[in-house]
Amino acid sequence: MTSAGRTVVCHLDELHDPGSRGLAICVNEQVHDVFIVRQGRQVFGYLNSCPHTGGPLDWLPDQFLSLDKDYIQCATHAALFRLNDGHCIAGPCAGDRLTPVSVMVDAGAVVVLHRDFPAQGG
Ligand code: FES
Repeated sequence: MTSAGRTVVCHLDELHDPGSRGLAICVNEQVHDVFIVRQGRQVFGYLNSCPHTGGPLDWLPDQFLSLDKDYIQCATHAALFRLNDGHCIAGPCAGDRLTPVSVMVDAGAVVVLHRDFPAQGG
């Protein structure tokens, strides 16, 4: 559900812990590919764009994590990123980071805030 400046994605309990989900967030008539990652009671959001090539990170729908679920893993060249800040710790883009998207948990609902997306025409 989208309202002014935010999109309610799901309830926190609908996400595995740790777990991930891909999303298409529509802001100002533009669709942005995003994914969220749950770690305990926290949820982090990033653009679905690897800093190595700009391509998507998921290897299957909603699968953004390494097998041990300790890291976000890019499907193309296996770069590993920390869950909580998107910093790349291994792979061809080591030292780079994912582009964050603001996410909050509001009364149990996972909410993506629109403030990180460019304004229309910007
Ligand atoms: S495209 Fe992600 S590591 Fe190469």
